[in-house]
Amino acid sequence: MHKLRAAAAVVGIVLAWGTALAASKSDPPPPWAFILLQHESDPPPTSRRVTVPGSELHVTGKAVIDPFAVTDWFPEDHPPMPHVVAYGRRPHLWACGYCHMATGVGDPASAALAGLPAAYIEQQLAEFRAGRRQCAVARTACGIAMRQVAREVSAADAQAAATYFSRLPYRRYIHVVEATMVPKTRHGNLYPITLASGGEEPLGLRILQVPDSDALEEDGDWRVSITAYVPPGSVARGRALVRGGAGALPCASCHGARLQGEGAVPPLAGRPPTYIVRQLYDIQYGYRSGTAVAPMRPEVAHLTAGDRIAIAAYLASLRPRAP
Ligand code: HEC
Ligand code: HEC
Repeated sequence: MHKLRAAAAVVGIVLAWGTALAASKSDPPPPWAFILLQHESDPPPTSRRVTVPGSELHVTGKAVIDPFAVTDWFPEDHPPMPHVVAYGRRPHLWACGYCHMATGVGDPASAALAGLPAAYIEQQLAEFRAGRRQCAVARTACGIAMRQVAREVSAADAQAAATYFSRLPYRRYIHVVEATMVPKTRHGNLYPITLASGGEEPLGLRILQVPDSDALEEDGDWRVSITAYVPPGSVARGRALVRGGAGALPCASCHGARLQGEGAVPPLAGRPPTYIVRQLYDIQYGYRSGTAVAPMRPEVAHLTAGDRIAIAAYLASLRPRAP
């Protein structure tokens, strides 16, 4: 989507902030999990007519990138959105649904909010606002967007958004596939895009989340599923780390027996693996700090790049809580 390009321009001033921490040199932030904001050389014309398969809605390309009015392809997929989710508040607060989608499914640069505990969502807004939640790579949506949002959002809007997203079911839309060779891709704005010319390349030590149709990247069609390619053996290795607790307590002791969340502790099952890798990294290197995240610190203290990939691959393969 072309929206994040605009996000960089609008809140670019924030870039100077939050550079006190240094990521590890021997364990750098993986670029496929920290998606850089970049300029597209050839953005599609905003006058084009846009629709997505199965939707009755037809809009202009300009409407799709309007951060103050979420394009609602399938109103039947979610309850009515509160004002702040659908429209935000002019002039500085973009609609939550613009980056997290009306169904709260999110995209690889943002986060899936559907089914998160309301108390956790409000807590995270407070963490972003206070600067206790940052991002290892500043020039990313993760490094920019939410601090701006958290500063602008009123307590009433925060509560309305938290209630809305917490009640949405988190549907399973990611298929985890272990593979040595993967389709050749180029870097889209948000997702890797499969090359029309075809071909394969080695996956190596990374996770590649490829949408099963371009309509997701282009126009925000949230019904599109995603294939997450992970290195061979990741799921079994991740299962062992999660059950064993990666050197500390088993993850289920706080995140619930099926890792579907417990009280205000967020669910992990079925969530996007690149998001999970980003959070494990940010927690391990102190970009998420403060008392809320303190129970997590021993859990991630000794993770390697391969451990984070394995844990994320296993978690993504699990079933989210049934609606
Ligand atoms: C301009 C895009 C953008 C908008 C608008 C936006 N967000 Fe976000 N949000 C993000 C990004 C990017 C992240 C991922 C941060 C990270 O990776 O650490 C995120 C993460 C979050 C998280 C953390 C989720 C988790 O599992 O810890 C919460 C909660 C959240 N957003 C709530 C909101 C709410 C509520 C609104 C509307 C008031 C909103 N966001 C509007 C981009 C956005
Ligand atoms: C002692 C309790 C505890 C244990 C054990 C634990 N966690 Fe957590 N975890 C938390 C809490 C509390 C949070 C929310 C942190 C916050 O509010 O910022 C969290 C947050 C997370 C997040 C961020 C989720 C998001 O939506 O951004 C991830 C990822 C995570 N945990 C993974 C794990 C994994 C993997 C394990 C096992 C290796 C584990 N946790 C074990 C308490 C725990």
